[in-house]
Amino acid sequence: MTIIVTGGAGFIGANFVYHQLKHHDDKIVCVDKLTYAGNLETLDAALKSAQFSFIRADIADRDAVYKIFADVKPDVVVNFAAESHVDRSIEDPELFLRTNIIGTSVLLDACRKFGIKRFHQVSTDEVYGDLPLDRPDLFFTETTNLHTSSPYSASKAAADLLVQAYQRTYQIPATISRCSNNYGPFHFPEKLIPLMIINALNDKPLPVYGTGDNVRDWLYVEDHCAAIDLIIRRGTVGEVYNIGGHNERTNLDVVKTIVHILGKSEELIQFVTDRKGHDRRYAIDPTKISTELGWTPQTSFDDGIRLTVDWYLSNRAWWEKIISGEYQTYYARMYGDR
Ligand code: NAD
Ligand code: TYD
Repeated sequence: MTIIVTGGAGFIGANFVYHQLKHHDDKIVCVDKLTYAGNLETLDAALKSAQFSFIRADIADRDAVYKIFADVKPDVVVNFAAESHVDRSIEDPELFLRTNIIGTSVLLDACRKFGIKRFHQVSTDEVYGDLPLDRPDLFFTETTNLHTSSPYSASKAAADLLVQAYQRTYQIPATISRCSNNYGPFHFPEKLIPLMIINALNDKPLPVYGTGDNVRDWLYVEDHCAAIDLIIRRGTVGEVYNIGGHNERTNLDVVKTIVHILGKSEELIQFVTDRKGHDRRYAIDPTKISTELGWTPQTSFDDGIRLTVDWYLSNRAWWEKIISGEYQTYYARMYGDR
């Protein structure tokens, strides 16, 4: 079959492309706008495969998307394309609405017009809002109410509602997955884990928001890709699947772990002004996907964080190029007088 992977030049999308090329012989067509977060060099190895092709396009551009569907005739669309960084959404929400909501609706319209076997929406646990720090017994399930905190999470929740509306009204065969925080190779260095690895390697301050007590539920990206692969092949149309591996850590713990692996000093850690509306704790209950599809994560946090640090040590050229460009302006704006 032919699978369109939108956002495949970004972090998780690229890992998913490589996962598909490794495990299946389907044709993969990546559709990506190549925003600041998209990087064609990430797909260098994939571009050598006859199974893989790349089209630069904006998912919110209706004409472009319809032309792609007419030419490619996809059986499956997996939508990773998004503006994905909470801090940027707090600075400038509008782009998030255009890509994450309008972009998703254009893809769904294309599925209506041209027909599709499966549309899969890659969503996030952030659509459930947050959990209190003093209730470790609480977890997000697929029936937890949507209750968003940031323009990013609001735009992702709106997209989820559109997918469900198109599924009910137009019988688009859709599935949705809501995953916890990912980490691993090709993670753009604006996000916590790669930012801390790179800053520590460069002996720069490690900016921890607020007190560092906020909790995230970390999943190695390869495990997320395996889960989506199962859902598009064996998941039930109309269903939502939570994805997470019970790897909760405070931000401060994560940063200290990175500092220790790299043999640096904890004195690099600097507590800075908190993020506005900062979600306290995310924690996924993955019972549904494990019982219905037999998915379980294969990589513990201790192993995954070492693999990730090793990847950044072995792939300096990839991230040094990124942080020498527009990223410098972003960093100064976001952290300059924080
Ligand atoms: P990313 O920011 O690394 O990559 C996003 C990709 O989408 C980039 O290649 C970018 O060029 C592309 N893109 C952006 N706007 C586009 C547009 N209008 N048209 C076409 N392409 C466009 O993001 P990521 O971390 O890989 O996240 C991928 C998806 O997974 C997102 O939908 C995100 O909401 C979701 N998600 C991410 C995490 C996480 O921890 N990173 C967790 C759960 C869910
Ligand atoms: P992030 O990687 O942006 O993911 P998300 O906000 O989607 O969970 O941030 C993860 C956590 O780390 C979040 O609680 C905010 C915090 N954080 C910092 O403390 N310092 C930083 O420089 C960044 C980028 C994030």
